[in-house]
Amino acid sequence: MAYRFTDLLPADFADRSLREDVRTGLTADPKWLPPKWFYDKTGSALFEDITRLPEYYPTRSERAILQTHAAGIVRSSKARHLVELGSGSSEKTRLLLDHLADGENVYTALDVSGSALRQAAESLAGNYPGLRIEAVRADFEQHLAQVLRDPLTGRGAGGRLVAFLGGTIGNLRPAERQVFLGSVRAGLEAGDAFLLGADLVKSPKVLVPAYDDAAGVTAAFNLNLLQVLNQRLGADFDPETFRHRAVWNEDEAWIEMRLRATRPLAVRFENLDLSLVFAQGEELRTEISAKFTRARLEQEFTASGFRPDGWWTDPGDRFSLSLWRPA
Ligand code: AVJ
Repeated sequence: MAYRFTDLLPADFADRSLREDVRTGLTADPKWLPPKWFYDKTGSALFEDITRLPEYYPTRSERAILQTHAAGIVRSSKARHLVELGSGSSEKTRLLLDHLADGENVYTALDVSGSALRQAAESLAGNYPGLRIEAVRADFEQHLAQVLRDPLTGRGAGGRLVAFLGGTIGNLRPAERQVFLGSVRAGLEAGDAFLLGADLVKSPKVLVPAYDDAAGVTAAFNLNLLQVLNQRLGADFDPETFRHRAVWNEDEAWIEMRLRATRPLAVRFENLDLSLVFAQGEELRTEISAKFTRARLEQEFTASGFRPDGWWTDPGDRFSLSLWRPA
């Protein structure tokens, strides 16, 4: 277990932010919640199942790009230091680590989940004995620029490759994306590079089934959020009274996942001193998953002080990896 663990978050961070999110989102009209609360033990396992569904192409497509191009991407970045935002599967991480430039190599993992970080760090430490591993528990919307500027956890001896894979950027709304890109940019130095995995705009005939699969796994994943609220906040949702929906919002270019109340109902949150009602047919938006075009990404990154330095897609042009440099 040769890694260092740095915790930038208070122990009750998750509890406090869940409470805030529920108070804000469930008292809003329309009701909404951020997607990060999907991932309890059951939700994380269901997400793993989603990545293996025939309809869910993003994971498979990103893996295909990495398998073909990881060596070229990492070598063209000239990085010796990999910084990963969000705990990727160690499989992806390895494909990148294997091609870092010669010299002292560093891997910094940033995540809000201490257990995900420790698991990833431990498994990598066994296989990469010479690698310096820094596991940093942080909220990257809050600490990113700070972590990237910190010599202990961010700055390395050589150029850094900051990777944000999996299409998670799609969970951010445009304004949040701008803030996020601003803090990545603020934390980068000359010689560093940013690697993004982003899903691409395509026919709703492909997009909608990817978020509403025939086997009902995504429905179970979405409905599990209600169990998370029941368990963590003492709510009394009956998941049977909600129905999963996936809607392509053409104007915003994002998929929305929603939970629709099939009859009027009341919910009480015991641990929050909060009660609320759903009208029949009322929907709770649980996730947005934005889809991109190359032009859109170039416009947003350029506006945030980056220049494009590489673009790769899978053979079906479903998903993209792109490399960006400080302009
Ligand atoms: C993990 C955010 C990339 O948006 O495709 C999969 C989550 N939600 N199916 C995505 C998800 C429903 C996923 N991300």
